[in-house]
Amino acid sequence: MENKKFYITTPIYYPSAEFHIGHCYTTIIADALARYKRLSGYDVFFQTGTDEHGQKIEKIATEKGLTPKEYVDPIIENAKDLWNKLGISYDYFIRTTDEDHCARVQKIFKMMYDKGDIYKGEYKGLYCTPCESFWTESQLDENGKCPDCHRDVHEVSEEAYFFKLSKYQDKLVKFYEDNPKFIQPESRKNEMLNNFIKPGLEDLCVSRTSFKWGIPVTFDEKHVIYVWIDALSNYITSLGYPDNLDDKFKKYWPADIHLVGKEIVRFHTIIWPCMLMSLGIDLPKQVFGHGWLIVDGGKISKSLGNYKDPRDYINSYGVDAVRYYALREVPFGNDGNFSEDLLIARTNADLVNTLGNLVNRTLAMSKKYFSSVVENPKVYESIDDNLISYAKMLPSLVDNKVNSLKVNEALEDIFELLKRSNKYIDDTTPWVLAKDESKTDRLKTVLYNLLESIRISTILLRAFIPGTTERIFNMLNTKKIEFTDLDFGTLEEGITLNESEILFNRIETK
Ligand code: MSP
Repeated sequence: MENKKFYITTPIYYPSAEFHIGHCYTTIIADALARYKRLSGYDVFFQTGTDEHGQKIEKIATEKGLTPKEYVDPIIENAKDLWNKLGISYDYFIRTTDEDHCARVQKIFKMMYDKGDIYKGEYKGLYCTPCESFWTESQLDENGKCPDCHRDVHEVSEEAYFFKLSKYQDKLVKFYEDNPKFIQPESRKNEMLNNFIKPGLEDLCVSRTSFKWGIPVTFDEKHVIYVWIDALSNYITSLGYPDNLDDKFKKYWPADIHLVGKEIVRFHTIIWPCMLMSLGIDLPKQVFGHGWLIVDGGKISKSLGNYKDPRDYINSYGVDAVRYYALREVPFGNDGNFSEDLLIARTNADLVNTLGNLVNRTLAMSKKYFSSVVENPKVYESIDDNLISYAKMLPSLVDNKVNSLKVNEALEDIFELLKRSNKYIDDTTPWVLAKDESKTDRLKTVLYNLLESIRISTILLRAFIPGTTERIFNMLNTKKIEFTDLDFGTLEEGITLNESEILFNRIETK
């Protein structure tokens, strides 16, 4: 039987500047998946955090006359406030400056060294400071610049420790073959194989002496552990590794999903598995590389300044409009455009017109015709089939989509039921039924069917727009709000619906 646990992670973000909507994008998706799995009965561990060491942060802090820690602390407080406002239900927030993380990374480094997988050598390479990445000549862009950010790289030469990535090349390819779902989407796997693995894995530089802001190598103090070993280890140090293997580590490792942006897939699918093989522990089940939210065709960038504080959007449109947009707009895995106009259009079309209207219309009719009392005399007509059969099928449809991380499609499917419900009102014309006393039971049935469609959609929406779903459940006055209550016809008869309130206000545009 499958172990009912689910460990999901976001990347740990660089607190080099305040977080933008791109960071929110990853984190909202991870949160939705975590919530969905909790509702499905899994014991979930959802982790996010911050990646605080490295030359770039040291440099910015120095320029501001601060220690790196003084510089990042307020950014992290701010990030936690943002996650709180976005309803991010993380179980653990790791900071790479946490004492236990640092001590554990030092042990991990030593274990790999003792095994002979880390050795001392001379590093000569091309380094991109903003990206904190080393590149080989052949990886640079057509102008000889960093292939990620297209800024200058400079040559670095210094004594450094190296990790024997090359030793694990064949094992890694074999692992990919044996675990075809390890890298998702599929296209990213081919990119890794063709661009990085087939040309031959080079050993990886894992320590630096040219800056101080990092975790010292215990047996050679002038070196600090270079950022990827420090950063990637977060996924296991938080679980107690290597100090305590019997508790959280035993329960949650291996991770079920590392959710990462496409630019860091290679670190998660090459370096990280090789590190874990060196340590002799299981590899994560899946790394999912999602696309970017882009603005006017380009990356949202702190340095370009083409973004607002995400709290501005929350304040203007509400948290669930922002969550819904992030989850619905971008076909998962691809890049997607972000603009405030698109956010507004999405909110008006789906949340105001489709969801809000349906709930308000249905509750208003129930109040007008039956003083908000719910009954189901089961007077069906063939027109009901289209609605009811879809509502019955919907939970498994959504489950399949969510489990293959097609969250946008899952939402599309849920909204299909809401659209059908709106059409069902137009087709059954309750206001006409209300004029004919012999149709009272039919009218009750029509309203019951609508309430059931709303209830089922709302249960399925819980992971995505949790605040709104809570408000709808309050209006419905029902206790049948769990995934185990998804059967059509479960809504309690005899309950009285509460006053209906406006869920979303139409956003006026110029
Ligand atoms: N610290 C490393 C990750 C270490 S994980 C062991 C890092 N940090 S980052 O802050 O630069 O970016 C982290 C993640 O933020 C990206 O992988 C991506 O998931 C997310 N995004 C940053 N900008 C984004 C967009 N414009 N759009 C979507 N996601 C974005 O890399």
